[in-house]
Amino acid sequence: MLFTRASFVIALATSVVAAAPLERRWGGWGNWNHDGGRPWWTPSSSYLDFGKRFPGADSNAPTCDLSQAVMPTAPTPLPAPAPGLSLSHVAIGRGTQNYTCDLTNATAPPVAVGAKATLFNVSCLAADTPALLAKLPSIALDLPIPASDGDDSSPAYQDISGHHFFLDATTPFFDLDTTLHQYGTGQFKKANSSAAPTDAVLGTNGQGFGSVTWLKLDAKDAAGQVLQEVYRLNTAGGQPPKTCQGMAAAFEVQYSAEYWIWAQ
Ligand SMILES: *[C@@H]1O[C@H](CO)[C@@H](O)[C@H](O)[C@H]1NC(C)=O
Ligand SMILES: *[C@@H]1O[C@H](CO)[C@@H](O)[C@H](O)[C@H]1NC(C)=O
Ligand SMILES: *[C@@H]1O[C@H](CO)[C@@H](O)[C@H](O)[C@H]1NC(C)=O
Ligand SMILES: *[C@@H]1O[C@H](CO)[C@@H](O)[C@H](O)[C@H]1NC(C)=O
Repeated sequence: MLFTRASFVIALATSVVAAAPLERRWGGWGNWNHDGGRPWWTPSSSYLDFGKRFPGADSNAPTCDLSQAVMPTAPTPLPAPAPGLSLSHVAIGRGTQNYTCDLTNATAPPVAVGAKATLFNVSCLAADTPALLAKLPSIALDLPIPASDGDDSSPAYQDISGHHFFLDATTPFFDLDTTLHQYGTGQFKKANSSAAPTDAVLGTNGQGFGSVTWLKLDAKDAAGQVLQEVYRLNTAGGQPPKTCQGMAAAFEVQYSAEYWIWAQ
């Protein structure tokens, strides 16, 4: 529903203010106010007024029928989720892909060494307005990365699902437990990948080296966790240059993606 979209925009917009107080505004969609230096959002347009039609929309996340949500299909389709699993959560990730380079070899390709992203709960968008959801990774890519020390108990952060990072170079971790919500945690390993569509964005502000592959991740220890499979879909950005020429020994590339999380 649209109020969910509004909440997502608020969460991202909060980080805009944190990054550049007073310098950037969401013209026409509402106003930022300040009380003792702490900004808050005053909805003043029809976009955010949609939220007011749902009592408690800002304090109680709605429950959506995730069984209605359908994952986007990669150009070369990824394998389907294992039988018996159900869709548990859908998040937008916004962060960086990390790479290292062999500085002694300019023709060597950068090596992926992990990623770090803040996850935003878009489960209801996935169930109700998938066409809108599909556009969010490329929109989020052009917004600043939320401060990692953001106060996730703040109402503006109510739609943060959690955080995604790597425990080692091959072990992506999803931590969906915050002070406000407990959606689970899990360690994963890469199961399959598929190139992003050829028309996927190149990077921030339309510049860069392309969008990272779509992925299927499986639980590292299926018996030891509830969250079983994760799909990274509709990626935006994150690809490194083809070679290490001119690159630092370690560098980051901005990205965003949808994460579809399946559970027992
Ligand atoms: C957040 O995710 C949960 C599922 O983990 C879902 O029940 C809830 O409705 C979601 N909230 C929003 C705002 O999408
Ligand atoms: C990836 O998935 C495709 C399609 O299901 C399959 O043909 C292929 O064997 C899989 N690759 C790996 C490495 O599992
Ligand atoms: C440099 O990297 C290229 C591409 O990976 C590789 O073929 C070549 O052997 C490497 N050269 C050296 C000196 O390691
Ligand atoms: C890579 O990712 C980690 C978090 O996993 C981060 O702390 C680090 O600064 C990143 N960047 C580089 C260039 O290593």
